[in-house]
Amino acid sequence: MSTFYVTTPIYYVNDVPHIGHTYTTVIADAFARWHRLMGDDTFFLTGTDEHGLKIARAAEDNGITPREQADNTSIRFREAWESIDISNDDFIRTTEPRHYAAVQALMQKVYDNGHIYKDVYEGLYCVGCEAYYTEDELEDGNCPIHKKPAERMHEENWFFRLSDFAEQLLEFYEQNPDRIRPEGYRNEVLGLLRQEVRDVSISRSSIDWGVPVPWDERHVFYVWYDALINYATAAGYSSDDERFEKYWPSVHHVIGKDIIRFHCVFWPAMLLAAGVTDLPRYFVHGWLLVGGEKMSKSRLNNITPAQLVDGDPEDGTDGFGVDGFRYHFLRDPAFGPDSDFSYEAMVTRYNSDLANQYGNLVQRVITVAHKKCGETAPAPDPESALSAIARTAFEETAAAWERGQPPMALDATWRLIRETNEYLADNEPWKMEPGADVDRVMGDALEAVRIVTILASPAIPRATQAAWERIGMAGEVTDQRLPDAIDWASGPTGATLTSGDPLFPRRKG
Ligand code: MSP
Repeated sequence: MSTFYVTTPIYYVNDVPHIGHTYTTVIADAFARWHRLMGDDTFFLTGTDEHGLKIARAAEDNGITPREQADNTSIRFREAWESIDISNDDFIRTTEPRHYAAVQALMQKVYDNGHIYKDVYEGLYCVGCEAYYTEDELEDGNCPIHKKPAERMHEENWFFRLSDFAEQLLEFYEQNPDRIRPEGYRNEVLGLLRQEVRDVSISRSSIDWGVPVPWDERHVFYVWYDALINYATAAGYSSDDERFEKYWPSVHHVIGKDIIRFHCVFWPAMLLAAGVTDLPRYFVHGWLLVGGEKMSKSRLNNITPAQLVDGDPEDGTDGFGVDGFRYHFLRDPAFGPDSDFSYEAMVTRYNSDLANQYGNLVQRVITVAHKKCGETAPAPDPESALSAIARTAFEETAAAWERGQPPMALDATWRLIRETNEYLADNEPWKMEPGADVDRVMGDALEAVRIVTILASPAIPRATQAAWERIGMAGEVTDQRLPDAIDWASGPTGATLTSGDPLFPRRKG
């Protein structure tokens, strides 16, 4: 059995979850759900990043301790993910003892292997990014992302010999072109590695909110070097070797483009320095923008995930439900480039793909089958043209999920929905007399609905489960295993069909 280990970035606890965080998390969730359908032994991790200056300052502003800040906010992420059906298998907090143990074990290895040394550091630091910048990278002395002045820091630090690994990484990414997807981001990383790569400071002595450096307790690790290790901690690094060996080789990081340097340069170098030779794979997405600006808590334009799911009685906007919300973020923004968030686009997509196409298909097929064929599902034609279309839809859907392209995967799945709607429009079963012909047409349509319901389940888990039950299928749609489950004519023949309310009531703009 293959394994599939997928992660989201761990989110800073200075802020409550916003739509940008939700975007990354929904994508990682859909990857995990797809791989579970494919029968892979899947491990899906998310969590919160709780150390560093940014959190310490947020706590100070709120008049609480950093730990209280972390406790209060971490729970908000857990709740947010539960409310939109995120199926993570673990939730890691970097303040947990298991994480301290793994960070200290991994960094001690790097130290023992001779890749860490002490030096004095002076540089320009952006607390928002928790990162150093060079003079040229700043815009009039301001951080290019946060637009706030960088602060001058002067400290004695421990340094990691990142420069020793640049060539090896460059060669690695040149020889393994599909490690970083989409392609444009791979080129960006190659570009970073071709420039001069400097050693990096990995510890702080001026703050104590962090994981202590095991060989020098006056220092704590710089937050990024503790944070990146979360992925190893949760896979069992230094605590469960068998588990680590099982999951680590299949690790996939879903990340936003803002954290590419940490993930694709620093992190694999640290792994190599610690003697871990299996390096991660990456799916990198662009930013969601509102009016051309990166969405963040301060630039949210007042939209919260809950408002989009539940609607907002104050301004009279409709909610999209959990499935409508998830579907939008998987289907609409192209995966890779930046894209503008628009409520209007969300309404249009919801009404077309969910209300008119999937929702309507399920509704119509059950209604017509009830009228013309009775309570139970008729058998499909083993030679139906829809059978080959379903197989192609599966193959194209699978290939796109593999490549890390949710919009293309859903487009391939939806083609089967459109073809089935057309098949019904061509045959007009609602005009046929009860008998063998209409049974055959409706048997075909029901079988296509069954297949498409499985394929769509990573995006819209609630509606697909409801549809699964309405067509009389037992158990959970998520327990189906591909590709066997799409064998034509293995479906609901003889099962009781149940009608219900529309799965996706239309939304007004
Ligand atoms: N804590 C670090 C990550 C450490 S991972 C070892 C961090 N956290 S964060 O909360 O600031 O943001 C994490 C991720 O949220 C981004 O990389 C990105 O995936 C996602 N997004 C945050 N804002 C976003 C948008 N406006 N648009 C799309 N994704 C965004 O960085």
